[in-house]
Amino acid sequence: MAESSSDLRRRRWWRSTTTRVLAGVASVAATATVLVTAPAPGADAAASTLGAAAAQTGRYFGTAIAGSRLSNSAYTTIAAREFNMVTAENEMKPDATEPNQNQFNFSAGDQIYNWAVSRGMKVRGHTLAWHAQQPGWMQNMGGSALRSAMINHIQKVMAHYQGKLAHWDVVNEAFNEDGSRRQSNLQGTGNDWIEVAFRTARAADPSTKLCYNDYNIDNWNYGKTQGVYRMVQDFKARGVPIDCVGLQAHFTGGSSVPSSFQTTISSFAALGVDVALTEVDVTNSNTSQYQALTQACMNVARCVGITVWGVRDSDSWRANESPLLFDGNGNKKAAYNSVLNALNAGSPTTTPTTTPTGPTTSTTPTTPTTPGGGSCTATLSAGQSWGDRYNLNVSVSGSSTWTVTMNVPSPARISATWNINASWPSSQVLIAKPNGNGNNWGVTIMHNGNRNWPSVSCSAS
Ligand code: XIL
Repeated sequence: MAESSSDLRRRRWWRSTTTRVLAGVASVAATATVLVTAPAPGADAAASTLGAAAAQTGRYFGTAIAGSRLSNSAYTTIAAREFNMVTAENEMKPDATEPNQNQFNFSAGDQIYNWAVSRGMKVRGHTLAWHAQQPGWMQNMGGSALRSAMINHIQKVMAHYQGKLAHWDVVNEAFNEDGSRRQSNLQGTGNDWIEVAFRTARAADPSTKLCYNDYNIDNWNYGKTQGVYRMVQDFKARGVPIDCVGLQAHFTGGSSVPSSFQTTISSFAALGVDVALTEVDVTNSNTSQYQALTQACMNVARCVGITVWGVRDSDSWRANESPLLFDGNGNKKAAYNSVLNALNAGSPTTTPTTTPTGPTTSTTPTTPTTPGGGSCTATLSAGQSWGDRYNLNVSVSGSSTWTVTMNVPSPARISATWNINASWPSSQVLIAKPNGNGNNWGVTIMHNGNRNWPSVSCSAS
């Protein structure tokens, strides 16, 4: 359903962190988005920040945040304005969170988390099991002691952030360039250490998406890419829980965006995982490379978002390559515009099966109801909000063969859905059935001045 250009011009980027749970069912964090539908922006629909532009197609645009820079207002002003996802650059790594064995310190990670969510941004967790940036006590460990320590680390850190993070990079950089496993103390505990990490992570926090993250897995015709691909393929075949693959996409230090980049993204996505570009930087911010990598993500429905590895060039871990979207003075670089334009030109990832044109309903409930036609319950919780529209997350419990009917109060209308099979008796009425990918889904509602939430009923068959 196309959004009018006046709607789009009115669109402002504001965020709500409110969560309302409307039935006695635990809500699930807003991490179930797989196939996001969103209104197609028209030629004059340009959003003016990276986050808002990405959100138009249901994606995010993030940055790495360094806790030590949060006192710098030039830095925080840009970061809060432009981005809607945050990764702690170092503060959630094992050396930061478990400096002494089984003694955890979340102060630096929490500072970044709180800074982000108080501004309506989401947070990616980075990272739980990695050969680098281990605390000293862990570096000297091996065998079953290290295996137990890894499991304990994942359990304790994920318990601290339970229900709060959009994604966790469970395992980071576990492969060699030729596609074999990297030798490390973790690898030395047995080849199954990665799947043990993922199984432990799923049990510790089922609400967060679990990612494998690595660099130099951008070129489809490269040994390392193929090695990671085969692991993910194997995990999906054997039911090892994995939800996403992070391509760090560091196009610095001599590498550049390969021509097969989109093929790599779509090939991972075809395995049934989300893909994200998690640590992007490009030597001297080459505009065509930034454009190409953004476009590649926009062209793949399950490429859910892009994170650049820092705010200004001076904040970069590779500052001498000036690889980011803002210069040291905080000015937008040419690459900023190429990224923003590619985001604004992005297509919706899927479209509703039919265009809702039918009559409107007159229901204007102030609270949703869950009368139920069978033994199932649909629970609503708030997702992101913008000036003209808001997202709701829906969690269905009680049955796996449910039908949820949602009535939106006029003149609000539903403009997008994700992770359901949808049919549309009218633009105010949505009938949702499972699409085989779980019981968590969502809608985007253009409120048109009526912010009352829709009513929902659930029937099981
Ligand atoms: C880097 C940080 O940016 C630096 O501040 C730190 O000194 C080293 O780590 N891959 C990753 C990131 O997954 O965690 C790394 O971050 C960059 C490479």
